[in-house]
Amino acid sequence: MNKPKIGVLVSGRGSNLQSIMDHIAAGDLPLEVAVVISDKAEAKALERAAGAGIATAVVSRKAYDSKQEFEAAIDASLREHQVQLVVLAGFMRILSGFFVQKWQHKIVNIHPALLPSFTGLDAQGQAVRYGVKVSGCTVHFVDEGTDTGPIILQKVVPVLNGDTGETLAARILVEEHKALPEALRLWALGKLQLEGRKVLIKD
Ligand code: GRF
Repeated sequence: MNKPKIGVLVSGRGSNLQSIMDHIAAGDLPLEVAVVISDKAEAKALERAAGAGIATAVVSRKAYDSKQEFEAAIDASLREHQVQLVVLAGFMRILSGFFVQKWQHKIVNIHPALLPSFTGLDAQGQAVRYGVKVSGCTVHFVDEGTDTGPIILQKVVPVLNGDTGETLAARILVEEHKALPEALRLWALGKLQLEGRKVLIKD
């Protein structure tokens, strides 16, 4: 049986991409990474992908006059590789309605906080400064808002005395590396059912 194909959008380190690749290699994530696209040529994620024999592309915002042309180039690359789901794994740009409408309910993001709390940048630092006692990560479908789309799953970690944004981020990252492959596995097995803004996980 052909495995469903995903495209992963990245900007940096790529530890979440690595986790996806590791789960595929271990045989417990039934999908194929068809292409990894970065807006930054120097992203370590690109090296990780190339090292695993995965197609890569750099689509730089600076190469295009408008955001729409930039996003159209990403869209073209995804379609060229017959991608069925777009995964944002540390992609540090907000996608506009133009792109999100093309991929309605077919974009998944991982965010390092328990949404709807602490959207946007430095979610871990926001959580520490606010003084919450638990935080975590959220895997969700992307809609036209920032970190507002239907939630697929969440994992929780404690916030400890003396935590900084960095120490909390490290604790959350461990859970991100479990949550994203788990959510993608559910998607690949056809177990995610969208009902309004709720995602039901079928048995
Ligand atoms: C992760 O914390 C993710 O939640 C956030 O950006 C970071 C990316 O890390 N969106 P990496 O590039 O996957 O290592």
